[in-house]
Amino acid sequence: MPQSFDLFFASSNQHKFSEAKKILDEFGINLGFFKCNLEEIQSDSLKEIAKHKATQAFDKLRKPVIVEDDGLFIESLNGFPGPYSSYVFKTIGNKGIINLVKQKRKAKFVSIISYHDKYSQISFESKVNGMISKKISGKDWGYDPIFIPSKFKKTFAQLENKNEISHRFKALKKFANWYLDN
Ligand code: IMP
Repeated sequence: MPQSFDLFFASSNQHKFSEAKKILDEFGINLGFFKCNLEEIQSDSLKEIAKHKATQAFDKLRKPVIVEDDGLFIESLNGFPGPYSSYVFKTIGNKGIINLVKQKRKAKFVSIISYHDKYSQISFESKVNGMISKKISGKDWGYDPIFIPSKFKKTFAQLENKNEISHRFKALKKFANWYLDN
């Protein structure tokens, strides 16, 4: 593993890492990939899930590390799938979500970035509001083909500037400002 990285991103998800790397590059932060499977606790709180993953990642790596946990919250479904977004994606997928959402389409994507090093642990949260599309549009990963951010007419999968407006971008921006100050 190269030693020159400032910071590592622990995840099994290559897509999340690639986006995070591009975003943090813009802040001058050189992000390495610590590809691993982290245990996900069952909790209603994304923050608790992310903190638990960050502790595990740091215990394995012993270097400054961030993890990310996300959730898609659909208003008319009382926030479902929320912290269960990963399981729901694997089981019913985008087609299943579209079938569940009939009229009220408002939703939000939430990202928690949890940082852990030898001295501290800190989390940053951000969200992007939007709506669930009527059909699957575009080919990108996860919920990208069914999430239309507010003020846009296209899904994340169809937008070229996802990395400038996403939940991930906003949470990483908060993190980067803190990290560069400390
Ligand atoms: P987790 O953080 O891996 O638990 O993410 C929850 C679910 O949301 C997973 O199915 C991810 O694939 C999906 N997800 C998280 N972020 C994004 C995104 O930016 N676009 C599309 N799907 C996402």
